[in-house]
Amino acid sequence: MNPNKALWEKGDFTRIAESMRESGEALVKSLGITKGLRVLDLGCGDGTTALPAAELGADVLGVDIASNLVEAGTRRATSLGLTNCTFQEGDASDLHELEDDSFDLVVSMFGAMFAPKPFEVATEMVRVTRPGGRIVMGNWIPGDPTLVAQILKISSSYSPAPPEGFISPMTWGTEEHVIERFADAGVPEEKISFSRDTYTFNYPGAPSELLSAFRTYYGPTMNAFEAAEANGRAADLQNELDVLFNEQNAIPSNDVTSIPATFLRVSVAV
Ligand SMILES: C[S@@+](CC[C@H](N)C(=O)[O-])C[C@H]1O[C@@H](n2cnc3c(N)ncnc32)[C@H](O)[C@@H]1O
Repeated sequence: MNPNKALWEKGDFTRIAESMRESGEALVKSLGITKGLRVLDLGCGDGTTALPAAELGADVLGVDIASNLVEAGTRRATSLGLTNCTFQEGDASDLHELEDDSFDLVVSMFGAMFAPKPFEVATEMVRVTRPGGRIVMGNWIPGDPTLVAQILKISSSYSPAPPEGFISPMTWGTEEHVIERFADAGVPEEKISFSRDTYTFNYPGAPSELLSAFRTYYGPTMNAFEAAEANGRAADLQNELDVLFNEQNAIPSNDVTSIPATFLRVSVAV
């Protein structure tokens, strides 16, 4: 089994995605979507950005490597009566089922960054975008002090060293790597722009309950706990993450959670 696919099918990312819906909708509103725009949402999960884009009138294809998330996205589109939003399984580093120049906008919020082979990912995103179209990526930033970068940093210190040749997904959060990858795909640096943006995780329970959802349903955190358990360090990991989630909660109450997380927003003019 492809380990990249296994990682994301392992838990149930829909349980985390539920806390990201408001930010997904806000992000989509900032994309200037017009009726009939052909949009590819790459690494779409269960449609946090694909569905609002379709609600604004775009013709949306969501592609994700995890079959359970493709099914969940399809169910959500059906229940909303959206006939202009379809989901299919696919790998961001090899989109052979999609034709050249077939999208006006390719969006990937914390999706394509998790595919191995980042140079192939950049090449594929550029190939399927029509000349004059756009690519927008949201990528977590290595070393950033906010939630997701810190979860991944803490988790990695409890996990075995990655295999030889592994390229960290977090490298997509540094401008030099992004420029290098798109340059290799034929896009010059001046066509790429960067900004810092925020996604807020909103959860109707205490920060420790949101952590519990990550521990139970988020593949990367599940793997970190498995590795920590094997070394008798699961309690340390739990404590470290519990401190993080509680410190990051922007709401003074312990009944609800609202945690802002910073990401690198990448816009590429193709
Ligand atoms: C952190 S989730 C983000 C999902 C969604 N974009 C959102 O904002 O809720 C990462 C997503 O990337 C998908 N993914 C990981 N590797 C992928 C690959 N090689 N090709 C396509 N999707 C991939 C995962 O299955 C998962 O749905």
